[in-house]
Amino acid sequence: MSQKNRQPWDFGKFVETLSYFEVIPLLNWVQELFQGRPQDSQNKPDGDKKVGVILVAGATGGVGKRVVKSLLEKGYRVRSLVRDIEKARAILGNDTELVVADITKIETLTPLVMANIQAVICCTAVRVQPVEGDTPDREKYNQGVKFYQPEIVGDTPENVEYQGVKNLVDVAAKYLPQADVKTIFDFTQSSVNPNKFNDLSLNNLKNIWGALDDVVMGGVSSSNMIFTDNVAIFTGNVSTDNSGGFASVRTKNFQPSINLSGYEGIELRIQGDGKRYKLFVRTDSAWDGVGYSYSFDTVDGAWINVRIPFADLIPVFRAKVVKNCPAIDQSRVCSLQLMLSKFEYDGQLNPHFSPGTFALKIESIAAYGGHNLSRFVLVSSAGVTRPGRAGINLEEEPPAVRLNDQLGGILTWKLKGEDSLRESGISYTIIRPCALTEEAGGKELILEQGDNIRGKISRDDIAELCVQALQNTQACNVTFEVKATENSANHKNWENLFAGLETNK
Ligand SMILES: NC(=O)c1ccc[n+]([C@@H]2O[C@H](COP(=O)([O-])OP(=O)(O)OC[C@H]3O[C@@H](n4cnc5c(N)ncnc54)[C@H](OP(=O)(O)O)[C@@H]3O)[C@@H](O)[C@H]2O)c1
Repeated sequence: MSQKNRQPWDFGKFVETLSYFEVIPLLNWVQELFQGRPQDSQNKPDGDKKVGVILVAGATGGVGKRVVKSLLEKGYRVRSLVRDIEKARAILGNDTELVVADITKIETLTPLVMANIQAVICCTAVRVQPVEGDTPDREKYNQGVKFYQPEIVGDTPENVEYQGVKNLVDVAAKYLPQADVKTIFDFTQSSVNPNKFNDLSLNNLKNIWGALDDVVMGGVSSSNMIFTDNVAIFTGNVSTDNSGGFASVRTKNFQPSINLSGYEGIELRIQGDGKRYKLFVRTDSAWDGVGYSYSFDTVDGAWINVRIPFADLIPVFRAKVVKNCPAIDQSRVCSLQLMLSKFEYDGQLNPHFSPGTFALKIESIAAYGGHNLSRFVLVSSAGVTRPGRAGINLEEEPPAVRLNDQLGGILTWKLKGEDSLRESGISYTIIRPCALTEEAGGKELILEQGDNIRGKISRDDIAELCVQALQNTQACNVTFEVKATENSANHKNWENLFAGLETNK
């Protein structure tokens, strides 16, 4: 376009845009906008971790320390809930975050302990030791091999196995991401549903979404987000004058950022005008960092749901695809942006673009597909339903069943702890091991329901089972017993193992 055809550029709108997003316009920054600059690696999100934080309670215990190790090896972010930090560091090393809390004291389960958790694995237990005391050759970890007369020391089973577990369940329910769908913006309610992760409310919707048009590059396009009673409308006029060609609306940075770990992607409920739009997701609070983008087509006048898998997002820096950029870090989504642009990526043209007025109606923006990773895994015990059960031959039963009364009702309270989880509405996996041993893992496992089996299983195998249960949808909302056979099975088909389990039992 020749200079005399250029439209007057609206400097006032430029300043307004920058101040809305609290950006201080430095001259070199503006120059960089026009000229481009090399990618600043420090601005890249470090999103190489799989999911949000996994909280392990009882992390210093026999099973707990193995769970921590296995999670770390698989690349999870692990937070260990411990009572004694020095002891924990010696057992667990430096790769896990440590938080001090006591599950029997609900006031210690603070936001510091619970923030951004994706799942909980609870391996806590009251202390059971031989009546004669704990000696290296008779200590509790050998109980599964040779039985010594046990007794409870320290806190009671009622406190730890029931009240403590219930405390953790109650608090986790407030922090674990909701199953399946997490609403980010629900415009049909004329309000924002922040799902407890921040304080957005109807009154400040206009303070969240602001226009970000090509005025920042000298263009004259103009758009905004309009809020009616039951819909938001991204609308305006996009012009290619002055070498421009995009209009967009962007949220200010969410504070705190939103943890969408474990979800498959973002779903938009929209009605468009047949044009192709883009969604940008940002994990970097910097104004001008990498955005993860996805182009989607609309159908003129029709309400449709558009699912945008996180895995399909393209890392983009100023309309150029960023090579070798890590996958998006879903645990810290800090802003969203909707755009209508003349361009796709790397200078390619948007095939469904025409300048002029446009309107994209939006009913909701949500994360979808989050059912499988938000989970509370509880290590309980085989035998919890056996004390007092008709037809039980105590002689044949494991010591904890026989000695339930002498051990402060340990199994009875464990069952009550389980109940609190089943009734909580959280996605759960309750694992009831037979006698635990210190033997090497990697054995073939037998999973059953109904609480009838007897046997033994290595703590290594229980730890691995906890971690696999987290990753497997078939292990969602199930309670089962488990023991090992003598056969080795290092490469288990976990899906098949969980497949036969009945849910909500
Ligand atoms: N032993 C068996 O044969 C057998 C059989 C079936 C099921 N189970 C169950 O399997 C699970 C794991 O057993 P395990 O042998 O690994 O247990 P463990 O070694 O005794 O570990 C128990 C863990 O719970 C922690 N803990 C206890 N009270 C706590 C509290 N109030 N707040 C926070 N943490 C607390 C302990 O922390 P500290 O280090 O601070 O003490 C320790 O880390 C337990 O639920 C157990 O009942 C055991």
